Amino acid sequence: MTKAAPNSDHDHPFLTDVLTLRDRARTHLETGNVTQSYQGDVTRAIAILQSVLATEIVCVLRYTMHAITATGISSESVKAEFAQHAQDEQAHAIAVAERINQLGGMPNLSPDGLLTRSASQYTQGGNLIDMIRENYIAERIAIDHYRELIRYFSDDDPATRTMLEGILTTEEEHANDMHDLLVAHEGRPTLPSQARSRTHSLEGARARSSRADLNRTSDPDSKSSRRTAPRGATASRGSRTRTKAPLSPGIGQHR
Ligand SMILES: [Fe+2]
Ligand SMILES: [Fe+2]
Repeated sequence: MTKAAPNSDHDHPFLTDVLTLRDRARTHLETGNVTQSYQGDVTRAIAILQSVLATEIVCVLRYTMHAITATGISSESVKAEFAQHAQDEQAHAIAVAERINQLGGMPNLSPDGLLTRSASQYTQGGNLIDMIRENYIAERIAIDHYRELIRYFSDDDPATRTMLEGILTTEEEHANDMHDLLVAHEGRPTLPSQARSRTHSLEGARARSSRADLNRTSDPDSKSSRRTAPRGATASRGSRTRTKAPLSPGIGQHR
C-alpha cells in the first residue's frame, strides 16, 4: 500500500499550505481583513451595505416615531413592541456600519439622501392599524431584500453573508410580530393559509394586549417583555455552499 507524501493534496485537500498563508499575510498589510482570499467585489459590497445601513436607519426612525405617537385602545403594548423593534433595528445598523468599516469603507450615516439609499420607506401611519400594517410591509421588503443579498454574497464573502443571515432571522420575527398584531387588532387573519391556527391565538393575543394596557406590568406571554436585548446583533452560524445569484437591477450600483 502506497503511503501518501506529507503535505500532499490527500493530507490537505482544501487548505493552502501554511508557508504560503504566512507569506500572504505579511504582504499588502494595508488591506486589513480583505485578504487575497476575499473573492467578492469589495467596492460593490460596501455600496450594497450602505443601502442596508440606510434601510436599517429608516426602520429605526419609523418604529421610533410609531412607538411615540401611537394612540388608541391597546396602544401601550403595541408601542412597546414598536420600541423593541426600533432597538433591534439600531443594533442591525451598528453591525452593518461596523462591517462597512471592516471592509475599508466609511459608513454613510448622513441624513442627506437617506430615503433614496434605503429599500424601506418612512411612513408616519395614521391610526394604530395603519402603523402596524406599514411596519409589516416594511419588514416584508427587508426580508426579500436581505434574502437576495445573502444569495449574492454566497461564499464570496461569508462574514457579510453570515451577518445578513442573523439580521434576516430577526426581520422574519419582526414580520411575524406585526402580522400577529394586525390579526389581533383587525380581528381577521391576513394569511389565508393560517386562518385556522391564527383563530386559536387571536383571543389570547387580544387578552394579552388588554392586560398589558391595564397594569403595564410584566406579562409572561408577551414577546416584548421576554426580550431585554436587541435581536439579531449576533450573526447566525453555519457553513453552506450556495450558488451565486444575480442582484435586482440597481442594487449596490446607484449609491
Ligand atoms: Fe433590521
Ligand atoms: Fe425589522
